[in-house]
Amino acid sequence: MAFPEGFIQELKARNDITEIISSYVSLKRRGRNMVGLCPFHGEKTPSFNIYTETDSFYCFGCGAAGDVISFVMKIENLDYVEAVRYLAQRAGMEMPDDNYDNSMSNLRRQIYEANREAARFFYKTLMSPQGKPGLDYLHGRMLSDKTIRHFGLGFAPDSWTALSDHLRQKGFSENVLTTANLSVKRRSGSGVIDRFRNRVMFPIIDLRGNVIAFGGRIMTNEKPKYLNSSDTPVFKKSENLFSLNNAKNSGSRALLLCEGYMDVISVNQAGFQFAVASLGTALTSEQAVLMKRYAEEVIICYDADEAGQKATARAIPILRNAGLGVRVLSIPNGKDPDEFLKAKGADGPEAFRALLEKSGNDVEYRLQKLRSQYNLSLPEGRVSFLEAAARLIAEIDSPIERDVYTSRLSKEFEIDKNALLTQINNLNARARRDHRRKEMRQMQSDLSGMTARTDAERGVTQRATAAEEGLVVYLINHPDSLSDIQRQLTPEQFTNPLIKRFYDYFSQRIADGLEPLNNITADFTTDEQARIYRMLHKHTAVAQTPRSLREYIGVITSESCKPEDKSAMSDDDINHYFARMRQDKK
Ligand code: UTP
Ligand code: MN
Repeated sequence: MAFPEGFIQELKARNDITEIISSYVSLKRRGRNMVGLCPFHGEKTPSFNIYTETDSFYCFGCGAAGDVISFVMKIENLDYVEAVRYLAQRAGMEMPDDNYDNSMSNLRRQIYEANREAARFFYKTLMSPQGKPGLDYLHGRMLSDKTIRHFGLGFAPDSWTALSDHLRQKGFSENVLTTANLSVKRRSGSGVIDRFRNRVMFPIIDLRGNVIAFGGRIMTNEKPKYLNSSDTPVFKKSENLFSLNNAKNSGSRALLLCEGYMDVISVNQAGFQFAVASLGTALTSEQAVLMKRYAEEVIICYDADEAGQKATARAIPILRNAGLGVRVLSIPNGKDPDEFLKAKGADGPEAFRALLEKSGNDVEYRLQKLRSQYNLSLPEGRVSFLEAAARLIAEIDSPIERDVYTSRLSKEFEIDKNALLTQINNLNARARRDHRRKEMRQMQSDLSGMTARTDAERGVTQRATAAEEGLVVYLINHPDSLSDIQRQLTPEQFTNPLIKRFYDYFSQRIADGLEPLNNITADFTTDEQARIYRMLHKHTAVAQTPRSLREYIGVITSESCKPEDKSAMSDDDINHYFARMRQDKK
């Protein structure tokens, strides 16, 4: 499967990478490049760069890298063909006639279709006589027909094969049904049975409106209470949120993070569209980063029980690390939002709004929790509490916020504010220093190529790898140097097999008169592609000259004569490399 080179070239030319990315990331200009907070991992200081020269992006924090096509693949969770189709549509370009679907792309499309048909089937069943138990159940939980329709709720009948038969008859293969996790193979004999039976059904819909998975609730006290789709080629539980498709249109700069399907739906019915749920897993950093794309602040609204409080404590740093503000909404009397709203009846919306307004930020919440752990009537209890509180406040990035809490505590405990503030600022400085050290170590190991990402690279000397990478980058940036390089080196002299593959690939393309980087999204895996952009930015930063080329060739020649040497780059080598880099930059 390959698109014509000219088509891909035009596609990239008509979809400006900065323009595409700026609809997901707010960018600032820095020199010739643009920087912003990485949409693929949580961070508070920007390490995500767009290089307009190479039309590529690169994140120093997580190593994500690529061109406009791979950006769309990653951020929209599309495969290559889907991303190309998406960008073609956006630019008003016709897709080439041929059927470019590869088998994976094809399978994903069929899963989306099967899921949509299943959702339709569940909804129709709910509204039919057969669905009466389900509809009665949902009405019993105070959901209106309007809400049921809005969320596309449904009913899986009490039958072994109703859905499977229906979908088979619509032309879906057993393979598609089991891969979509709508059906499961019979334990004995052949054929498939329905995965969801006798349950009310909650479709999970992604941001483009595709039905990607289901949750199904049993109507009795049996277990499991909720059965969810397992991960499939179109669904990764840890990377999705229930009802984000609604919440992103709410116009709110905050999201309300709930535990369950019913909480989100009840909160919506009460008039608050900004609720999402983390699909029955502990909140993941991927989900936090996803929320950061649509909100500045998250209000955690987990159950008031012990499990819910533990989950709250775990979620706070995950959200903070994604650069989100955090508030915590506590519901009185150990209820979840759904139960609270139901108990308040017609006063629900008003009462819930009052809770929202009262919800404190996470620092207040954590100070409150901390307070309950110490005996504040004893002097040593107060001292221990203040020490713990100082550590907590020291984690806050904003000096103003730190000052506010320090003032409050010093007043309450009648202690010298400046003494407390000094201690907090010292702790904060130490945390920052640790953070910087960690970043520095990460950068060093990146630069010296010690993060060997592929097995093939094990046991290759760092010195050789650095030179081989440098050479490949030089070649990409100076295609006219190909014959000069070929006169002095043979590909067999490369010691790192991955870099040799890159070298072979790029020299072939240059020999064929093609733009070196035009097609790499199609020709390499995501990891390999990121690897290419990583080395491109690492070595382009050093400003390569013909002298660098001579040095690369020198190192490659001498390394290729050496017997296998497995020692890694020494500290001296690294320091030397850094010194060189600094010098070259001048
Ligand atoms: P809860 O047990 O708190 O359920 O689980 P709930 O949302 O209050 O459900 P109702 O009100 O009794 O209907 C919270 C969330 O954890 C996941 C679901 O996403 C649920 O909404 N969960 C829970 C499961 O996935 N499986 C289970 O068996 C239980
Ligand atoms: Mn509940």
